Amino acid sequence: MQNEQASRTALLIAASLVLLHHDPKCSGLVSKTSAASCAHMLETYSLQTRLFLKIIRQGWFRPISKLIERMTIPGILLHYALRKKCIASLARSALGNGTTQVVIIGGGFDPLSFELHENFGEVRFWEIDHPATQRHKVRAFPKIGAERLHFIAVDLNATALNGEALIKSGFDPAQRTFWIAEGLLMYLPADIVSSLMRTLKSLSASGSQFAFTFMEKQNDGRIRFHSQSKLVDCWLVGRDEPFVWGTTRDELVDLVRPWSMIRFFDHDNLRDLGPGLADEPIAQGEVICLAEI
Ligand SMILES: C[S@@+](CC[C@H](N)C(=O)[O-])C[C@H]1O[C@@H](n2cnc3c(N)ncnc32)[C@H](O)[C@@H]1O
Repeated sequence: MQNEQASRTALLIAASLVLLHHDPKCSGLVSKTSAASCAHMLETYSLQTRLFLKIIRQGWFRPISKLIERMTIPGILLHYALRKKCIASLARSALGNGTTQVVIIGGGFDPLSFELHENFGEVRFWEIDHPATQRHKVRAFPKIGAERLHFIAVDLNATALNGEALIKSGFDPAQRTFWIAEGLLMYLPADIVSSLMRTLKSLSASGSQFAFTFMEKQNDGRIRFHSQSKLVDCWLVGRDEPFVWGTTRDELVDLVRPWSMIRFFDHDNLRDLGPGLADEPIAQGEVICLAEI
């Protein structure tokens, strides 16, 4: 990631959720509050993103966005929305079963912690992200409850995550935690991913869960969405956000140890989360994994 600029992919995801919310066919997949938070993020980030927001809210832009999607990664917008829906429902289910802490790593501009914060009054939340991304989120939402929602800025490529900053802000390793790393691990080298797994384990009470996504390595070893065009490869490299880590489901079982795997959710499982999606393309290649300690 470029050190001064927020993650471009995080901005793109925020824009995708606004777009989907305005698409009559898919609007039910993105809540009004979620779309409003993403829109606010784009409104406050820069002049360009404010202008972009105006454009994506126009009906005439919908066919253009569909064309761009077809030329880049077909089905990526639905993938983002369904990936979020799946992880949010796993988090809600853990919180309904006695989990009292949620830590989101690489949260980008996702409003999930704000929504859960509203709905679960006894739960405490942390967001850990690259400083270049996180400062924009904190600036855009200065009033978000400091007592139960904490922000910790770390460049995970430069500094290993240790529990100190979490514990200083009230995190209790003896309580059950739901950890999330959505759309993050593909940007970190394998050794950092392994060390993160061990660190999170060391901070987790029994019954804690970890929901994360990973890129499934292709047969030729490449790490990308199945139908990703060369245009996207170049864009990610140009933005200094290339995918550097991917794995297979079999390799992952060893890599996540001492976490134990509960289940995977791929594009077919995600398709079941929304009505009327049977014939819609959903991008393939990134899989959600739920693991438990
Ligand atoms: C693709 S965005 C995903 C954002 C969010 N999880 C979502 O799904 O909407 C990638 C996120 O990973 C974070 N990230 C990438 N490299 C990082 C690093 N070296 N240290 C900390 N965070 C990093 C970015 O700041 C960004 O928030």
